[in-house]
Amino acid sequence: MKHLLSTQELDVDQALTLLDTAEEFQAVANRQVPKLPTLRGVTMVNLFFEDSTRTRLSFEAAAQRLSADIMTFQVHGSSVSKGESLKDTAQTLEAMGADVIVIRHPSSGAPATLASSGWVHSSIINAGDGAHEHPTQALLDAMTLRQRFHSEPRGALLTGLSVAIVGDIVHSRVARSNVFLLTTLGAKVTLVGPPALLPQGVDDWPVHSTYDLDDAIDSAPDAVMMLRVQRERMGDGSLISHKDYVRNYSLTRARADRLPQDSIVMHPGPMNRGVEIASHVADSSRSVILDQVRNGVSVRMAALYELRGGQA
Ligand code: ASP
Ligand code: CP
Repeated sequence: MKHLLSTQELDVDQALTLLDTAEEFQAVANRQVPKLPTLRGVTMVNLFFEDSTRTRLSFEAAAQRLSADIMTFQVHGSSVSKGESLKDTAQTLEAMGADVIVIRHPSSGAPATLASSGWVHSSIINAGDGAHEHPTQALLDAMTLRQRFHSEPRGALLTGLSVAIVGDIVHSRVARSNVFLLTTLGAKVTLVGPPALLPQGVDDWPVHSTYDLDDAIDSAPDAVMMLRVQRERMGDGSLISHKDYVRNYSLTRARADRLPQDSIVMHPGPMNRGVEIASHVADSSRSVILDQVRNGVSVRMAALYELRGGQA
C-alpha cells in the first residue's frame, strides 16, 4: 500500500492487516520504553490545514514510537497566508525530507489530488478531507469495537454487530469512513439524524437510516456512535434549531439507560457535552471514548508501518 486515502478502497484483507498490526503495536505502548526502531530514517510531516487535537497529536505519538522523525505544519502562521498553494507547500516539505505526508484539509479530495498529481512522491495519509473521509478514525473505531466484542480481536470481523451512527451525518467524514469500513467488516450500520442532516441518496448506501433516535435505541444496537453538529460546515449554521436537535437527537441519560447492558457509547471527539451527548453518558462505564483515543495511536502506527515499514 503506498497511500491511505479512504476506507472505501480498503478490502477485508487490507482492513484486517491494518487492525491486526495495530493490535501488535498496542503491546509496545505497555512497555517501559514504548519505542521501536522500525521507521528510523523516515520523516513524517503533519500538514494540517484544519484544527485538530487527537489526530495530529496521535500521528506524532505514533511516529515517535516507531522512531520516525517528525515535522509539523499548521496553516496558522505559515506562508499559506501569503498565497502559497498546496502544491508548493507539499513540494517545499518534501524538499526538506518528507517521506510521509499526513494531510488534513477542508476540501474533499485534497489528499487524493496530492497522491495522484505527481507533485510529490511521498506516501499520503488522509487525516480528514472536508466531509469526505477520515480513514484512520474509522480504523480506530473498528479496533475499539473488535476489542470490546471479541476476547481475541486479532483476525476477528464485526459480523452481525449493529452500530447506530447518530447526528450530523451529512457533514461527517467520520460517518462516511465508518459506513464503508464497518460494513466491509460485516457490521450492520444504521444512520440516525434529522432529514436535513442525512445525505441525499442515503438509500443507495449499504445501511439503514431513520429520523427517529428512540426507535434506533429500542432496536438494541451494540454500539451507538454520537457525532458533533459540524456548524463550521453549515454556512450560516441555520440548518437545524438547537433546541429541537437536543430534544430529538441528544444521547441523554434516559435514552442511554434504555440500551442493552453491554451496549457501548462512542464519540470521535471533540464532544459538545450537553448537545449531542449528556456529560453523564460520556463519563459512564458504557463510554469507550478514551479507548478510541488510545487506539488511535496504535492504528496510526499501523498505517505508518504498512506504508513505509518495508522502505525505512
Ligand atoms: N474530529 C472529527 C473530524 O475531524 C469529528 C469532528 O470534528 O466532529 O472529522
Ligand atoms: N476525532 C478527531 O479527528 O479529532 P480531532 O479533530 O481533534 O483530530
